[in-house]
Amino acid sequence: MTVGDQPLSKIIVLISGSGSNLQSFIDACEEGSVDGKIMAVISNRPGVKGLDRAAAANIPNIVVDHRAFESREEFDQYLAEIINGFTPDLIVLAGFMRILTDGFVNQFVGKLINIHPSLLPSYPGLNTHQRAIEAGDSVAGATVHFVTPELDGGPAILQAQVPILSTDSSVELAARVLIEEHKIYPLVAQWYCQGRIIMDKGIVFHDSVEVEKSGLLFSSESEH
Ligand code: GRF
Repeated sequence: MTVGDQPLSKIIVLISGSGSNLQSFIDACEEGSVDGKIMAVISNRPGVKGLDRAAAANIPNIVVDHRAFESREEFDQYLAEIINGFTPDLIVLAGFMRILTDGFVNQFVGKLINIHPSLLPSYPGLNTHQRAIEAGDSVAGATVHFVTPELDGGPAILQAQVPILSTDSSVELAARVLIEEHKIYPLVAQWYCQGRIIMDKGIVFHDSVEVEKSGLLFSSESEH
């Protein structure tokens, strides 16, 4: 489990659903474009497609059903214990539809990342594509960011933009954004595994250069 002389980074992926972003990580790790190994996939919902994707890739897949816990704190504490058992280097939220407590986030801050389907800080929360269409925006996109206790408010690392067409439904726009998500999320993970991205005191550095608040903008050049 090494790349060159370096050990592969240990990655945990948290999901709640289809897991298409998870699949992009599975593929990238298999191809070697992410120097990481997915140690486990954890879902808060049983029976979701992402669990099948993990099983098909022989990755341990674990269900921690939030409905079995009395409180958000108890769920998060149990989740953290499972995650800590893998001593991960990176924890990836990939369509994980649970608000995490400050206690959870603070213990993993700096190695916990999320992808959000909007150009943050625009449209945190849900229904991002519909909101962008209704606002008459001409551009939408996705943002990979470090997670901090503020919901969808952590410092951005990388954004990808797509046009909004006048004919777009939210479903069509979501599909266009998702294609970009599958490019930028593994790319950020690779930067992280290579030590090229860090967050220090709430500021992101890429190759030791401070990243502006909205994150870097993805282009084909970003992949180098
Ligand atoms: C993606 O749009 C992601 O940005 C959002 O949830 C969705 C997850 O999709 N956080 P998938 O489960 O990875 O297919």
